Amino acid sequence: MELIVLDTAEAIASRAADAIEALLASKPNAILGTATGSSPLPLYDELTRRYEAGRISFAQVEGFMLDEYVGLPEGHPERYATFMERNLRSRVDMRPGSLHGPDALSEDLQAACDAYEAAMAAAGYCDLQILGIGADGHIGFNEPGGPLDSTTHIDELTEQTRRDNARFFDGDIDAVPTRCITQGLGTIMKARKLVLIATGENKAEAVAHLVEGEIDPRWPATVMQNHPDALVLVDPAAASLLRQRH
Ligand code: F6R
Repeated sequence: MELIVLDTAEAIASRAADAIEALLASKPNAILGTATGSSPLPLYDELTRRYEAGRISFAQVEGFMLDEYVGLPEGHPERYATFMERNLRSRVDMRPGSLHGPDALSEDLQAACDAYEAAMAAAGYCDLQILGIGADGHIGFNEPGGPLDSTTHIDELTEQTRRDNARFFDGDIDAVPTRCITQGLGTIMKARKLVLIATGENKAEAVAHLVEGEIDPRWPATVMQNHPDALVLVDPAAASLLRQRH
């Protein structure tokens, strides 16, 4: 696992965009795993800038979202499908329909999980997976305590995650769904490259476990220590609880 501490969210976005630009230069039809939430927003801005400058094209890219809330209707602004459409797909030359997510509106959620895992397997899993990290150490929505080799499944959001995400729902924790469908930790680990972005003091404890802790299901992101090509990009606030200087 490579850790890089950079001073600003923009510098982090630029370093993450470099990894994606390099991937697309060698493989224009790459499979890209996308994350939602606030951490990757500067990256999506930077990717849009590079697309507008003619440096990168997403015309042949297929995307797979990490997760989706259960219980939000089609078109809800905080549905992750809507978020990705707004913040990336519609801003670059990704084809409509090329950014896939689990069908969290299905009557049969388990079948939706299985279908999503099968679609990712058929595509050969992601070449590069963008990740954020929860304050409780989740990646995707793999909340603490689950198996480290899980596939796509239904997960229950922790109180902490719902509190953190209430900011996207006018501060109303009751409006935050309680369940989601998420790629499993085993699914995420099948990506050839992982790029995790963490900014802000709220992430410092999770980052300390990720970088310096034991691999432990109570801090799900620690499974990344077993990945052969994982890049962790953090700002000084997120790095503030690391014991060693990096
Ligand atoms: C989002 C996701 C989550 C977020 C994490 C951090 O698709 O899977 O793991 O990356 O909750 O969220 P932010 O970036 O909003 O702090």
